[in-house]
Amino acid sequence: AKASQPYRTSYHFQPPKNWMNDPNGPMYYKGVYHLFYQHNPYAAVAGNISWAHSISYNLIDWMHLDNAINPTKPYDINGCWSGSATILPGVKKPIILYTGDNFKNQQVQNLAVPKNMSDPLLREWVKSGRNPVMTPGNGIDPMMYRDPTTAWRGSDKIWRVIIGGQINGHGTAILYKSKDFVNWIRSKNPLHSSNKTGMWECPDFYPVSSRGKKGLDSSFKGRDTKHVLKASFGDHDYYVIGNYESKMDRYSADVDFMDSIVQLRYDYGMFYASKSFYDSHKKRRILWGWVTEADSKSDDINKGWSGIQSIPRTILLDKTGKQLVQWPIKELEKLRARQVSLHNIEIKGGTVFEISGITASQADVEVLFELPRFKDQIELMDTKSVDPQQLCSQKNASVRGVLGPFGLLVLASNDLTEQTAIFFRIFKGYDKFVVLMCSDQSRSSLKRDVDKKIFGAFVDVDPSQKISLRTLIDRSTVESFGGKGKACITARVYPELAIDNKSHLYAFNYGTRSVRISRLRAWSMKKAQIVEFHEGRKPL
Ligand code: FRU
Repeated sequence: AKASQPYRTSYHFQPPKNWMNDPNGPMYYKGVYHLFYQHNPYAAVAGNISWAHSISYNLIDWMHLDNAINPTKPYDINGCWSGSATILPGVKKPIILYTGDNFKNQQVQNLAVPKNMSDPLLREWVKSGRNPVMTPGNGIDPMMYRDPTTAWRGSDKIWRVIIGGQINGHGTAILYKSKDFVNWIRSKNPLHSSNKTGMWECPDFYPVSSRGKKGLDSSFKGRDTKHVLKASFGDHDYYVIGNYESKMDRYSADVDFMDSIVQLRYDYGMFYASKSFYDSHKKRRILWGWVTEADSKSDDINKGWSGIQSIPRTILLDKTGKQLVQWPIKELEKLRARQVSLHNIEIKGGTVFEISGITASQADVEVLFELPRFKDQIELMDTKSVDPQQLCSQKNASVRGVLGPFGLLVLASNDLTEQTAIFFRIFKGYDKFVVLMCSDQSRSSLKRDVDKKIFGAFVDVDPSQKISLRTLIDRSTVESFGGKGKACITARVYPELAIDNKSHLYAFNYGTRSVRISRLRAWSMKKAQIVEFHEGRKPL
């Protein structure tokens, strides 16, 4: 690997080297957070997939342990693929369900348990003698049958789990039930499916509270809950919100997958194969997602690594009940160091100004924009037929408007040759004003051979109120939360000039109307301690 590593993240989770994809089996168990992940121990490209294992006491600082599960058996010899952990109540033991790519390249589901329950870090895992515990057949394509979820228990005390698949061309959450977690019986009907999508990878299924700010355990039963079903397909993580009734295992989505023009996604940038878990310690649900590289495979080989995890995010149901809101876990704030603040500053139309005094390549920025009074004299949009990503691509950061584009220029060189723009733009839609949020990577790097796709999302906020933006800048990662977490966009960028202390941060407004920053706070971020475990190493 290269000696100089301007793109290696400093507070987003990464393995010491080589390839990483999906987060697996995240859990909180007896004071320790565990994260497993899809890992190639030998190269910075996909292959030889095993379960790597890291532990943490605060979800920010991590210790890498030895692999937990390696491809060693006929039922997983071609790869130990994604899966989940469930903590069995009563005995309070964790158990992992994962997909094996078997000797015939068929996908089967397997169990693994800790070898030694008295090891607080659960370093060694053993595979069940009963593996595989679920196999394809009966209309299931053995190449499209993977990624078991965390299991949940109905009021009948029976365990349920879903497996991602495709049946008759439809994306499907295949349902299994078990009394003992070992003998699993496929239910006649899937939990849910869609004739508008293909294969579902990495499904996730969990309750959210429609009152209050607490997360819920996967098996929680009670009033005032909705259930979220997430599926990964077409490069994105889509979710629906609906009602689940465990007696009949009936799930109905309020608005189903692909049934509206604007789809609900966890993130409108790069974020895939995510998984959530219930943190019983802090009573919250936390989401992890895989963020891939946007540079070339040969760049990855040269760097010696590929793939990061998003900042863990707490997820809650929004007040409207129509979408989720996500926010970086509170613990991240402990990395905040030097701070700059601005109050009540007008940014005139067509201007840019620098926010100096922090390390702009490694920062956390929170800003609140306040718009002038406006009525009809702004850009119009046909909201019924518009894809926000396309709109952001057409009206990128250099295209002047009326109210917007305004926002931040991050990882920017001092002459702005390189810049990544995260911005808003306000439109008058059919029956209301619409807030568009964009992350424009098109000028992010002088390098060729980098994917500089522009991302976009609508943010369901009222533009007569203040509009908030939080952006986490981490060397090659720009993870943004608009409207207090109503729309998230994660991007990967590889500047050549704007690296380390040559990186700058600006606020800009290329609309004709001026806007106000009612408050801006920006912090340099310290590096998280992400280290390799060895015997005798002091706990973090
Ligand atoms: C998603 C995925 C999963 C599979 C794993 C293999 O990125 O394709 O469906 O289990 O990666 O690494």
